[in-house]
This record gives sequence, structure tokens and C-alpha cells, in this order.
Amino acid sequence: MKKIIANFKMNQTQSETKRYLMSFASRFKQNDKVEVTLCLPFTNLAIADLLLQNTQIKLGAQNISEFDSGSYTGEVSGSMLKEAGVEMVIIGHSERRQKFKESNKLINRKIKAALKNGLGVILCVGESLAEKNTLKTLESLRFQIEEALKGLYENELEKIIIAYEPIWAIGTGKNATAREVEYAVKVIRKVIEDDFSAKAGKDINIIYGGSLNVRNISTIMRVKGIDGALVGGASLDENVFLNMIGLI
Ligand code: PGA
Repeated sequence: MKKIIANFKMNQTQSETKRYLMSFASRFKQNDKVEVTLCLPFTNLAIADLLLQNTQIKLGAQNISEFDSGSYTGEVSGSMLKEAGVEMVIIGHSERRQKFKESNKLINRKIKAALKNGLGVILCVGESLAEKNTLKTLESLRFQIEEALKGLYENELEKIIIAYEPIWAIGTGKNATAREVEYAVKVIRKVIEDDFSAKAGKDINIIYGGSLNVRNISTIMRVKGIDGALVGGASLDENVFLNMIGLI
């Protein structure tokens, strides 16, 4: 079963999401090929939880506080997300690393906060264009993964999905090729194998994200070892997203 995850980023108001979900949920036919998760802005979680109640579509968030509660103006904690019906949270997205200066150490603390609250984690990692051009993809992925997963127990990896999202492919219309994705998948499995065990390396869930659309999704989903997709821009139109899901 492929994990297909939508990342709405900072798009749609509550009423827009309500309209989207009424259309999406009524037309989406659950089958044993896909598990769909929608990662929405915080303000749209409550209405989504209500509208998705009798479906198997899961709800996700796009950020989490490293803290449990207290004087942290503007932050949202893991227990708040859990009670809002969230099952998974995106952590370490390159937009947060770059635009909000999130470090690997902070990402590590956020992962621990998510796990503590029983939330699944979509950990985003990926090389920059400069790293790709200087053949540093392997090094870059290894460093990001090792820093993010520091101190985790092997049995916690079942709650983690690693999203390979090359920075140069996000929102650019330039997706990674099947060969590039296959290479990254191998690298990620090897890092997990080295740091945890051969079994962990084999079992870890790895998905791809970056300029996925109706034209490239089936090719990328056929790459050996790929467990799913993280879809940004193309998930915002429910017709396009449903078409993409239908191609898997
Ligand atoms: P994109 O975004 O599909 O718009 O490239 C993917 C992501 O950032 O998760």
C-alpha cells in the first residue's frame, strides 16, 4: 500500500478546505493500493476532522512545537494536535529549514515531541542544488538523517516516514528522475541500516516529494523501494489530486 500525503502548505481558508473535502471525500474510493493523508494548516484541522470522520483518509499537520505547553506564544503542541484528530506531522521540511531557520537539532527535538504524543512523523530530507552538483547528495542525506534521528530507539522507526525531497525539485516543476530517486532510496536505507539494523533499513518507509504531477507520479511510484509520495502544489486541486491517486 502506497502512502500518498498531501502538503497544503499555507494554502486555503477553512471554507475553501470544507468545499475541497466535501468534493474529495465523496469522490475518493478507498482501495488497498493507497493510504491518503492530508496535511493541512492548523486552522483547518477541526473542520477536516469532522468531515473525514467516516472515511479512511488521515489527517496530518505541517508543524509541531518541541515543547509540551506553557509560555510559547504562537506554538502548537503535540497533545493539541493529537486531540484535534491529527495522526501525522511533517517535520524538517526544507521551507522550514530555510525560511524559519530550523536546525537539525530542533528537528530532532520536534520528532521526539511528536513520538511522545503518539504522532507519526514525516521527516523531510533532501540535498540542495549545489550539493547535487558537487556530488554531495549522499553526505547531505546521511547528515540530515543522523542528526534528526539521534537518540531514537529502533522500534520508534515504525512511526517515521522519511520523505526524500530534493530542495531543487520542490515547487520548481523539475522532479527528480526515477534513477535519482532510486539512488536516494538506497542511500537512505543504508544510513538506517548502519545506524540501526539491516531489518530497520529494509523496513523504513521512504516516500518521494518534489514537483509530482499527473505526468510523473506513476513512473516515480514504480521506483524500487519507494513507499509513497508527498504532493505539494498538485494536491491543492482535488481533481488533479484524485487523478494522481488513480494513477497509482
Ligand atoms: P511540490 O511540493 O509538490 O509543490 O513541489 C512538495 C513539498 O514541498 O512537499
